[in-house]
Amino acid sequence: MTSDQGIQFTPEGKLKHFLTIEGLSKSLLTEILEVAESFASVSEQQVKKFPLLRGKTIINLFFENSTRTRTTFDLAATRLSADVLNMDISTSATSKGETLLDTIHNLEAMHIDMFVVRHAVSGAAHFIAQHVAPNISVINAGDGQHAHPTQAMLDMFTIRRFKKDFSQLKVAIVGDILHSRVARSQIQALNILGVLAVHVIAPKTLLPAQAESLGVKVFYDMKQGLEGVDVIIMLRLQKERMTGALLPTESEYYKCYGLTEEKLEFAKQDAIVMHPGPINRGVEIASEVADGMKSVILKQVSYGIAVRMAIMSMTMQATGNRE
Ligand code: CP
Repeated sequence: MTSDQGIQFTPEGKLKHFLTIEGLSKSLLTEILEVAESFASVSEQQVKKFPLLRGKTIINLFFENSTRTRTTFDLAATRLSADVLNMDISTSATSKGETLLDTIHNLEAMHIDMFVVRHAVSGAAHFIAQHVAPNISVINAGDGQHAHPTQAMLDMFTIRRFKKDFSQLKVAIVGDILHSRVARSQIQALNILGVLAVHVIAPKTLLPAQAESLGVKVFYDMKQGLEGVDVIIMLRLQKERMTGALLPTESEYYKCYGLTEEKLEFAKQDAIVMHPGPINRGVEIASEVADGMKSVILKQVSYGIAVRMAIMSMTMQATGNRE
């Protein structure tokens, strides 16, 4: 068990922080999906509120840009009746040299119940979880190249909604696997939930060393990798994390690995197309595919609210009533 996994639970075995998928049990992932299912219908109701986190204060602490994750965490917390504060890091005292821990301790002094953290450094959320008071939960909203566990869970929720039985599924993840925290968390979740196979499709330069040890089959060719798959997950080129030239040109990349309607034909007829976003049209995916009948990309965004409501309510239950 890694230190991430150990720190996530209370001594009674309840999920207190959500930092990584690695090492979590199939039954816990299934419980998260089922709790999320119970919240999913709320978004369609006129009154979109549950009183579960009434009186609790949550801070969204995003040191990196975000559209989907930050907004859906904000909506999830609001729908659970929590008070939410979105910290604007660009105008916070971190720009005056305050350390991460000093920022955290100052916010803690305001009687916070949960931090939702995105940071460019791998391990940042874990570091914060190690240093906060025992009654505070920390949720990892993406740390460096390491993990994006709530994204992986909303992706699992989307797959389950459209495909039902994980054990019969072949899932392809295409693109910049090397720099992708999303891919890492997705691969872990898919293997824990027991899919038939995970294919990763990428040029050698965008694959981690010994990629097979992650529990995947590696393909360098879209035709071979997409053959017979039920789910295709496209990834963006994470240029902000690339050092040096890993690709010839974007147009060359698109020619080989961009998902076009022609390449989509290699997968099963009823395959769905996913992407965690942000998408780069004409780089990793054609507009006709992103906006096409098989795309569930915007469904992923919608389901993110219910899944984040589930994870927030479950972790908050573990830290208990602290009045
Ligand atoms: N999928 C994802 O993490 O998107 P954002 O960067 O917009 O949060």
